Amino acid sequence: MTLTQIHRHTRLSIFMHWFNAVCWIFLLLTGLGLIRNDDLQPLTSWPTMLRYVFGGGANLLLAHEIVGITWAGGFFLYGVIRLKSDVLPFFREIFTVDFYRDFLWLITKGIQMTLGYKMLGIIAEKFGFSPRIPDQGFYNVGQKIFAIPAVFGGMVIAASGIIMILSQIGMASNAVVQWAIVIHFVTVGLVFAGLLIHVFMASIAAGEQPAFLSMFTGTVPEDYARHHHKLWLDEVKKS
Ligand code: HEM
Repeated sequence: MTLTQIHRHTRLSIFMHWFNAVCWIFLLLTGLGLIRNDDLQPLTSWPTMLRYVFGGGANLLLAHEIVGITWAGGFFLYGVIRLKSDVLPFFREIFTVDFYRDFLWLITKGIQMTLGYKMLGIIAEKFGFSPRIPDQGFYNVGQKIFAIPAVFGGMVIAASGIIMILSQIGMASNAVVQWAIVIHFVTVGLVFAGLLIHVFMASIAAGEQPAFLSMFTGTVPEDYARHHHKLWLDEVKKS
């Protein structure tokens, strides 16, 4: 057991992550309140309540748009200013996949998390594969599977939202706006589904607390890094 801490996130990347999370929560809650169709709305009293809180539907829409533009604008600026130092390395990391190793990680980690190490050993022996969970880099492949749609879905959500705003000043045709509305809803739904798993894996799942704390402190214990992200720790040790 070692108490050494390994640097994992810069202050700016931590800030951007929580800025993103707060904006997402606000946009989800207000976006849900903008759906006034009883056939689509799972919580029928939510739109009425939010309109009361914001002083009407127009204010609710305005708040949603202001936060949406702030969120998209914040990431646009971040993307431009930190392209080389943060954004490109992040993209390189999430798109680097070793199919055999990462597929095996998904299988073994999935069995270990749902049935435990003992069952993993039994199943691995029965089907003739190694029960050892393969080592992972800075992000494990599960995180990558979420990060890719989260980033590109975010871009689609921002672009379709901007089209909807432009339509209010007559700068987008009806057909384009209707496609933008469908794409906006569907993409939010897809990213939200991944987000539920992301929040569970990042903050509730057993053994993941150091990752959660690192989103405040910027560091993780060396033991955690060795266990969860050994390939990354090896790189850190080399440099
Ligand atoms: C309140 C909710 C959230 C919690 C508790 C949370 C937690 C975390 C944690 C602990 C990490 C660091 C993982 C690591 O260092 O290995 C992380 C990373 C990340 N988060 Fe979140 N997050 C939240 C919301 C969001 C939202 C709304 C998005 C985007 C839609 C998002 C996207 C990401 C991405 C892309 C990463 C990097 C890759 C990954 O770990 O999946 N997070 N999050």
